[in-house]
Amino acid sequence: MKAIIVEPGKPGTARLGEVPEPDASQGTLLVEAVAVGVCGTDVEIVEGKYGWAPKGDDHLVLGHESLGRVIDPGPSGGFKKGDLVVGIVRRPDPVPCPNCAVGEWDMCRNGLYTERGIKEIHGFMSERWRIEPEYAIKVDPSLGLLGVLLEPTTVVAKAWEHIAYIGRRSYWEPENVLITGAGPIGLLAALIASMHGLKVHVLDRMVSGPKVNLVRALGATYHSGKVTDIGFEPDLIMECTGVGQVIADSIHQLGANGILCLAGIGHGSTARMAEMTDLASAAVLRNNVIVGSVNANKRHWFKAGQHLARADRSWLSKLITRVVAPQDFLSALQRQPDDIKVVIQFSAL
Ligand code: BGC
Repeated sequence: MKAIIVEPGKPGTARLGEVPEPDASQGTLLVEAVAVGVCGTDVEIVEGKYGWAPKGDDHLVLGHESLGRVIDPGPSGGFKKGDLVVGIVRRPDPVPCPNCAVGEWDMCRNGLYTERGIKEIHGFMSERWRIEPEYAIKVDPSLGLLGVLLEPTTVVAKAWEHIAYIGRRSYWEPENVLITGAGPIGLLAALIASMHGLKVHVLDRMVSGPKVNLVRALGATYHSGKVTDIGFEPDLIMECTGVGQVIADSIHQLGANGILCLAGIGHGSTARMAEMTDLASAAVLRNNVIVGSVNANKRHWFKAGQHLARADRSWLSKLITRVVAPQDFLSALQRQPDDIKVVIQFSAL
């Protein structure tokens, strides 16, 4: 069967190749791929900066934002042929660490977790894939292709849960939130924040186009300048750019007792020790919490499914700005200015 594969660590090796049918060791549920979303992590893997092949293999099947249709439910009771499913990305480490032992693989302590399409397990960019029934999530059939947005929504659902826990450390009734970065994660964060009744502000570089329209369609305020020019002190900032300057400005702009949740992953920084000291002082003097958040466990996958099921379909559908065929996967990885979520479609719904 056809699959989009890459040799991790070697830029320029991504290709649409032939691979064997999925191995039964990957799970009893056999699924036909419908679509797979592309994100910055995939781009990094293709550029040779991230990603690990399964032990003993020289290549990795790419893709962790899945959507598929069950072709053979196997012996598992909970699924039937034709069900739309999405695969959980991370698997617990084999030790397991205390967090993985209790099902919190998103909080793995020892880094020995594996991730489909990213770290040591083949991903979902193949015509067919297998999965363990306990790691397959049924998608509301009325979502159709929009089910491919479930994985990025889980990342926001987890961050949101952690913010709520942290907020309980003292009296805290957040009124407003600033989201930096209007990519898929930022826009899904804006959606969930508006569902929670917060005044939502989103900041990005674009001055017009689909991102601006999507923010305004939520009743939220769009900003295109610097974080330090927004004119208010947010109770909560969800940082989705991973850009050093945006992070530093966010720490300075955050209101007293506020939470800065870092969800973007960037590389390189020019921050010097003196700047770090100023940033730390700003956080200390205002009781700020800076928290990183990655991945999601089954509770967050369930919650994300609820969020998507409640969301306006027409708004969600505008997040998918391009759908390409598997043979054109390289174009999917090249970001266009108005791209939000680009999806590779393997079969019709
Ligand atoms: C994925 C996460 C994963 C992270 C780090 C992100 O793109 O959405 O599931 O944990 O990359 O590998």
